[in-house]
Amino acid sequence: MQVSFAAPRASTTGAWVVGSLADGVLTSAAQHADKAAGGVLTRALKTSRFKGKANEILEIIAPPGIAASRLLLVGLGKAEDFSASKAETLAAIVTGRLITSGETQATFEIDTPKGAKLKAPQLAAHLAFGAQLRSYQFTTYRRKNLDDFQQTLKSVAIATSDVAAARRNWQALSAVAEGVFLARNLVNEPPNILTPAEFARRTKALTKLGVKVTVLDEAQMKKLGMNALLGVGQGSEQRSQLVAMEWNGSRKSKAPIALVGKGVCFDSGGLSLKTGAGMMGMKGDMGGAAAVTGTIHALAARKAKAHVVGIIGLVENMPDGKAQRPDDVVESMSGQTIEILNTDAEGRLVLADALWYAQEKYKPSAVIDLATLTGAIIAALGAEYAGLFSNNDKLSTQIADAGKAEGELVWRFPMGPGYDKLIKSKIADMKNIGGPFAGSITAAQFLQRFVKDKTAWAHLDIAGVAWQDGEQKPLMPTWGTGWGVRILNRLIADHYET
Ligand code: BES
Ligand code: MN
Ligand code: ZN
Repeated sequence: MQVSFAAPRASTTGAWVVGSLADGVLTSAAQHADKAAGGVLTRALKTSRFKGKANEILEIIAPPGIAASRLLLVGLGKAEDFSASKAETLAAIVTGRLITSGETQATFEIDTPKGAKLKAPQLAAHLAFGAQLRSYQFTTYRRKNLDDFQQTLKSVAIATSDVAAARRNWQALSAVAEGVFLARNLVNEPPNILTPAEFARRTKALTKLGVKVTVLDEAQMKKLGMNALLGVGQGSEQRSQLVAMEWNGSRKSKAPIALVGKGVCFDSGGLSLKTGAGMMGMKGDMGGAAAVTGTIHALAARKAKAHVVGIIGLVENMPDGKAQRPDDVVESMSGQTIEILNTDAEGRLVLADALWYAQEKYKPSAVIDLATLTGAIIAALGAEYAGLFSNNDKLSTQIADAGKAEGELVWRFPMGPGYDKLIKSKIADMKNIGGPFAGSITAAQFLQRFVKDKTAWAHLDIAGVAWQDGEQKPLMPTWGTGWGVRILNRLIADHYET
């Protein structure tokens, strides 16, 4: 779908989308449309329950007297509540309504409601962003009944008073949308296609944007002592990979911020095998790595003035004669030893070495890891919030605020020595599982043992939000959601750009 910006015109073809405030108060564009179409909106309002509440739609097909093929009056709600994120949701819902309707083109002519907190060019760009995010489709593997899935809506134009300023705002947002789409695609790809090697190959596309991409193979990781990560992949036919993606758009030479992602391309559980039902969807266990890759894409595509390195550990967790056993002890790159008691607690093993490598190699000022780490976080938070764990209050607040602004919410969990005790091992420095309780926290305590004391660190457990089996939401499709790209991009934009 093509998104563009244009000055309002006297005559509009395709779907003409205009706004109404609460209590059916038409905006000036809506009044204009109503008048042009012989008062059709005024008449329709009389026989409809439409009240102009946020995201309500009153649709008139083939309105009389105007060139437009349909007229949509959409609710903006109360002017003082209207915001960038409300505009995104509205545009997404309207786009969803039109996208397979037979309509090919739409023009959004939404005036900034008086008293709203955002300016016209921002409103225009965020309408475009919402429409764009809603247009996502993953049809790579469909061969039949393509017509049923075909989107008819090919272009959305945003009518706005300051086209140049709207385009400038859109430049950055369209880069973020690209990053979100990349993350969604990676999560949606099946695991027979998106193997660790294939994932690594796809990250190389980022070099075109000026990202320095380095791929370590198993021999190189072995040399560095990454036995925790390598142990997870040793039962797989697929070779493990570690990818570093460095974007340096900072004008000063500055310590980077490191983003570390869990990239388990398929998690069978290993010898501690999952059940059939529990294994379904485990192609998405690389959602953290996908979010990191999508974020680096977004930052590079919008030329962010920040120094950021994305590190992803890519493995496949499989049972096999060569697979890691429960009871094995491995020595991690940090030198700490780990007793493996459950091969299904593999994400933390991958992250242990990826986190250590990130700190040793890049000396970052802050490290944020993203991982579909525990089923327990889904039990606690469902699909509404990701779990946040951190050793730093300031970083936690920054992340929580970025999440609120972007509609990717996080909830901070406690950590402490009482939880850390639960991963003591009888024969090694630690074991890779805690007891039956506080599973998400003991996983975070495990990760913290691979974080240097002076490093500001946050861990996002995204097991509940990286993909969703439920129905399409306005800004999140079914399956791969791309969760993480928006919150990380915003965090960096607000606090790590110079
Ligand atoms: N990838 C899973 C976590 C997961 C579960 C993500 C469901 C998304 C949906 C992780 O590797 C795992 O298996 N964790 C175990 C840990 C346990 C063995 C300590 C879990 O949560 O059951
Ligand atoms: Mn697992
Ligand atoms: Zn896993």
